[in-house]
Amino acid sequence: MPTESLTITDNRTGKTYVVPIDGGTVKAMDLRQIRTSEDDFGLMAYDPAFQNTASCRSAITFIDGERGILEYRGYPIDQLAERSSFLEVAYLIVHGELPTQPQLDDWCFQISEHYIIHENIKKFIDGFHHDAHPMGMLLSTVGALSAFYPDAKHIFDPATRQKQMYRLIGKMPTLAAFAYRHSRGLPYEYPDPRLSYAGNFMAMLWKRTGGEERYTPNPVLEKALDLLFILHADHEQNCSTSSVRVVGSSQPDPYCAVAAGIGALFGPLHGGANEEVLKMLREIGDKEKVYDHIKRVKRGEVKLMGFGHRIYKNYDPRAAIIKQAAHDVFAVTRTNPLLDVAIELERIALSDDYFVSRKLYPNVDFYSGLIYEALGFPVEMFTVLFAVARTVGWLAQWQEMLGDKEQKIARPRQVFTGHRGRTYVPMAER
Ligand code: ACO
Repeated sequence: MPTESLTITDNRTGKTYVVPIDGGTVKAMDLRQIRTSEDDFGLMAYDPAFQNTASCRSAITFIDGERGILEYRGYPIDQLAERSSFLEVAYLIVHGELPTQPQLDDWCFQISEHYIIHENIKKFIDGFHHDAHPMGMLLSTVGALSAFYPDAKHIFDPATRQKQMYRLIGKMPTLAAFAYRHSRGLPYEYPDPRLSYAGNFMAMLWKRTGGEERYTPNPVLEKALDLLFILHADHEQNCSTSSVRVVGSSQPDPYCAVAAGIGALFGPLHGGANEEVLKMLREIGDKEKVYDHIKRVKRGEVKLMGFGHRIYKNYDPRAAIIKQAAHDVFAVTRTNPLLDVAIELERIALSDDYFVSRKLYPNVDFYSGLIYEALGFPVEMFTVLFAVARTVGWLAQWQEMLGDKEQKIARPRQVFTGHRGRTYVPMAER
């Protein structure tokens, strides 16, 4: 009997089965052979919310949640945060290797060539109310790109796929910035390919109409935004990435799949959490009130937003980097007193048994909102920034899935709990 195997005895029948173990997993389909009779469907794994189910093999992002380790393609996140740039990291995530200088130059050039959006997309944005949430606008306009690029449906053609990646990575900041300017009632500002990815985004957001010849981003703030993009670029099989893979598995173009990812990211338990963190910090308002808030959390009245993670049972390494970067940003902008509230909240929580015993640590969203606010972003834009960066990860994961021979259209099973075989009751008899 191979040692890399699992022996299962079905106590219903007394039968024994040997199931291979591969990479720390057993195949759920191997359980199907475990049956009580010929017409029994076979055993299934029941795993709502996929808490212990690997849905794919992936070589992109490694996380060790117990130790607080995050690596993109084998490179630790702190090294990339310190030494790389967002577009270089994007190349690494998509292609698997760090680029040479000519490769990086070409990658940046191709992406900047696609910053511009079709003029008709502006009409979509114009159609939204001034108070529409920019995530709703982003979701819709990314979905709309599907109708603008019919060539994108040739997803098994590598050149076409590559082109959609240039397009999507290039256009995300433009769509995000246009959504922002629409909500402010400002005219749209066209992209400037001479600026860096983050710098161009800042220019499209904040360039003064009619006044400035050319927007010059503050280098510290530009670097901080680029860093935040790096930290959000991928995070393996989270809710939005899994949504992209599930939708992508039915083989639509990537705009449909990425739109699904944006929808998933919008939720307050995922990308929407940084917005919730800031609301929470404002509500607490003062260091002195932190203790009362912790008591409310422990009574189960509210969650401590920005704390806890399905995977990290240790300090989220991204939160540590962001906390440090917050000080650099605040040296340029004015200090945000809510940072003191956040630090106090973290201090008290990390010394409280409720949080310690549940392994609840600050996640990426705990400090990111404070920096975003200092950079000048309104709260509604926080998740949009996350989506701009995560597009890279979504596309890399989507591409990986398309090349994975083990993948098929995603289709979970269910345990049926409803009625069976009822006879239709006419309206008058109900
Ligand atoms: N505040 C208070 N208690 C919490 C928190 C929190 N933020 N998170 C988890 N817990 C508690 C749960 O109530 C539960 O307690 P119990 O064992 O007494 O029932 C225990 O910790 C385990 O929590 P689960 O809900 O089982 O953890 P799960 O992995 O399902 O949830 C999640 C992870 C959704 C991130 C959760 O921690 C949460 O809601 N956090 C706040 C929202 C947030 O910050 N989300 C951002 C995540 S990072 C990202 O998406 C980019």
